[in-house]
Amino acid sequence: MDVVTGAFSFTGRAIAEELLARGRGVRTLSRRAAADGDPLGSHVEWAALQFSDRAALVEAMRGSDVLYTTYWVRFERGGSTFARAVENIRVLVDAAREALVRRVVHVSVSNPSESSPFAYYRGKALAERVVTESGLSFAIVRPTLVYGSNDILLNNVAWTLRRFPFFAVGGSGAYRVQPVSLAEVASLCVDAGADGQSVTFDAAGPETYSYAELVRLIAAAVGRPARIVRLPGAVVLGLAKVVGMISRDVLVNGEELGALRAELLCSHEPLRGSGSFAAWLDGAGQGLGLRYASELERNFRSYEPL
Ligand SMILES: NC(=O)c1ccc[n+]([C@@H]2O[C@H](COP(=O)([O-])OP(=O)(O)OC[C@H]3O[C@@H](n4cnc5c(N)ncnc54)[C@H](OP(=O)(O)O)[C@@H]3O)[C@@H](O)[C@H]2O)c1
Repeated sequence: MDVVTGAFSFTGRAIAEELLARGRGVRTLSRRAAADGDPLGSHVEWAALQFSDRAALVEAMRGSDVLYTTYWVRFERGGSTFARAVENIRVLVDAAREALVRRVVHVSVSNPSESSPFAYYRGKALAERVVTESGLSFAIVRPTLVYGSNDILLNNVAWTLRRFPFFAVGGSGAYRVQPVSLAEVASLCVDAGADGQSVTFDAAGPETYSYAELVRLIAAAVGRPARIVRLPGAVVLGLAKVVGMISRDVLVNGEELGALRAELLCSHEPLRGSGSFAAWLDGAGQGLGLRYASELERNFRSYEPL
């Protein structure tokens, strides 16, 4: 039995599916129970993801071998802050130790740094420190930009391309991204769970594109012209805010645009992923961006801050 946070969400779902495919039992810690008709619902045990009742967390993890942590917040809003998320990870990891979990596989992000200008990346570095200083055996997996079914960011690039006559990129659009497939991230996590050594590594795919190229590929996949307009970052952010007001969401924020331009979604390590983003788009592109995927709807509005 292993425990995965967020088995009915994005990365946690892929990890749970990979564990089940390898014959492991899976328990999830999640705010949400499985939706009606979710095929994972009958295969995954559920316990509430919360951080105020440590004893319940310990109980939920007792008897399990590996804890896979995907929990994080995409941006700060109300009581959901990065500092709070770091402390919540501390509670989770401490509870795992008390429950005698053998190992933690923690999903982080490429290029975290405690001195990053971006709060998200500083928070991720601090969360990593919680894991590395926990005394537990650990693997820290740092994905770049994850693509797969039910993602939010790439889906909404496609949604924007489908609905607007042009697509605005900040600056030259020449900054690089190195997407990695969701299935490969999950597989790397589960491989890492089976090991014993404490390790930290990036999960990145084999293809590197400029952001403008990535947008062009997505445009081709959804059958739209790629009319890319290069604008100052502040103007792009302003346009994103207008779209966000229409969609009642945060389409993309200044930190995310900044991290993109700083090429933090690229790895500087030997490759671990082999899946082609272009090939995935060939298959998945037609369905991409048909509907807007709302971060606020999915992760904020229905829940109290943890
Ligand atoms: N998506 C990417 O491209 C990408 C790239 C690099 C790194 N990562 C990292 O991968 C991990 C998983 O990300 P993901 O994209 O798969 O996200 P996700 O599925 O939306 O969320 C992962 C987990 O965090 C919880 N969560 C999300 N937003 C929350 C909020 N506002 N308040 C409380 N809990 C919240 C979810 O809880 P519930 O199960 O209760 O919904 C879920 O367990 C994160 O650590 C992220 O930093 C993602």
